[in-house]
Amino acid sequence: MSKIIFVLSGPNLNLLGTREPEIYGYATLKDVEDQCRAKAAGLGFEIDFRQSNHEGVLIDWIQEARLKACAVVLNPAGYGHTSVAILDSLKTLAIPIVECHLSNPAAREEFRRSTYVSLAATGIVSGFGAKSYELAIEAAAALVAKASL
Ligand code: DQA
Repeated sequence: MSKIIFVLSGPNLNLLGTREPEIYGYATLKDVEDQCRAKAAGLGFEIDFRQSNHEGVLIDWIQEARLKACAVVLNPAGYGHTSVAILDSLKTLAIPIVECHLSNPAAREEFRRSTYVSLAATGIVSGFGAKSYELAIEAAAALVAKASL
């Protein structure tokens, strides 16, 4: 069985550390990747960490996860609030999906209070800054371990 967790991030997250740091924090995406890799290794997993500003690319990666991953951690960023196409692609997966946000979108503007991704996610981690990604990996690893019992 695959021990690879796909960790996918959507638009504008390449600017992490400089983009609205009062909301998203000062850690860069590279910092987040390093933290995720260390967390996953400690749990006996590998990660495939990717970011794209393009909806179709994210969908291609979600489809790739069907063949290669044991779980997906997804921060869909703005696309979470708009993309039926990403939801549809997530619905093709038979592996755990953990939706992840740095901020707590439920406590922000009205349009952020729900996501399409939530309709397909096994669970959601939000509001803990860069730590949300680590917690999401922990959750994904636990779900995979439970499924393989
Ligand atoms: C985000 C929250 C979204 O509402 C926003 O569009 C983002 C980042 C987060 O990680 O807190 O780009 O997904």
